[in-house]
Amino acid sequence: MKIIVTGAAGFIGFHTSLSLLKRQITVYGIDDLNSYYDVSLKKSRLAILKKFKDFFFIKKKIEDKSLASLFKRKKVDVIINLAAQAGVRHSLKNPYVYIDSNVLGQVNMLELAKQLKVQKFIYASSSSVYGGNKEMPFSVKQRVDNPISLYAATKKSTELIAECYSHLFKIQCVGLRFFTVYGPWGRPDMATFIFTKNILENKAIQIFNYGKMKRDFTYIDDIVQGVLGVLKIKKKFCHKIYNLGNSHPEVLLEFIEVIEKNLNLKAKKTLLPIQPGDVSETFADISESKKDFNFSPKTKVSTGIPKFINWYKDYYKL
Ligand SMILES: NC(=O)c1ccc[n+]([C@@H]2O[C@H](COP(=O)([O-])OP(=O)(O)OC[C@H]3O[C@@H](n4cnc5c(N)ncnc54)[C@H](O)[C@@H]3O)[C@@H](O)[C@H]2O)c1
Repeated sequence: MKIIVTGAAGFIGFHTSLSLLKRQITVYGIDDLNSYYDVSLKKSRLAILKKFKDFFFIKKKIEDKSLASLFKRKKVDVIINLAAQAGVRHSLKNPYVYIDSNVLGQVNMLELAKQLKVQKFIYASSSSVYGGNKEMPFSVKQRVDNPISLYAATKKSTELIAECYSHLFKIQCVGLRFFTVYGPWGRPDMATFIFTKNILENKAIQIFNYGKMKRDFTYIDDIVQGVLGVLKIKKKFCHKIYNLGNSHPEVLLEFIEVIEKNLNLKAKKTLLPIQPGDVSETFADISESKKDFNFSPKTKVSTGIPKFINWYKDYYKL
């Protein structure tokens, strides 16, 4: 099998690529290695992937139309489009990059899917599409027409674009709404990383909505298990969307306590109001994912956090 993974140098793309390569699947990794966060972390992830002979790296933007010519004589079975400009807060100040990477990028990758006649097009959506929905848990059956950040609006757009391509060109599309993913090699702009770093450096951590937040923190290995599960779906359909979340929301302050306990240090906390664009609670209904590809997240925060902290201390040589 040959698979294109975009965002291969990113957190989820790296872990996904690594699992595929360990299963002797050829991976064409695409990433522009942009500087949204520390590029050396992206390069370190890539260095691991490059050890595999079946890994081929292309440094390009996914919205770059010249990608098509690179794959002219190649056979590719599946595209997994994980490259995107992530982050809710960044989208308030840098709107255009979200349109380029997330919207134009999705169109360009679907055009490539069309050209390559792939069996499946899997792409990353986000729990943020649920916006201010109050009904818990968030189910894929709910309407998601009220995004409260541009990031969420672009993710909802990727779903609409996939719906249209699947219908017009009979490309089987699968959208995955990820819920706050954490774990080794995680993103420096996300809570687990920031809290760990600041606590270790004796700096205050900012806690929004005065800590009255709940997040469905999902461990990276469970996410990868979900992505691999989707590859095996045999059912015939044009387009389906699934939640990939732990389905066990954590109260933010209790999540911080787990980090404190594992670091054996106390956090200095600055309690602040909720940030524009943020939602106060996320909680995934994963019944559809369970039914169609047996998705069953196994990692509790009490197991996942120490794994993240061990990686952090090891990587930063602390
Ligand atoms: N991590 C989470 O908790 C989470 C939650 C919901 C959704 N998602 C989505 O999952 C996907 C992967 O997220 P992640 O956490 O691994 O993020 P990440 O930022 O670590 O990975 C994304 C990678 O894509 C690359 N990239 C960005 N724009 C690009 C472009 N235009 N062309 C080529 N490469 C580009 C970046 O350099 C990066 O390496 C994203 O689509 C994100 O929106 C992630």
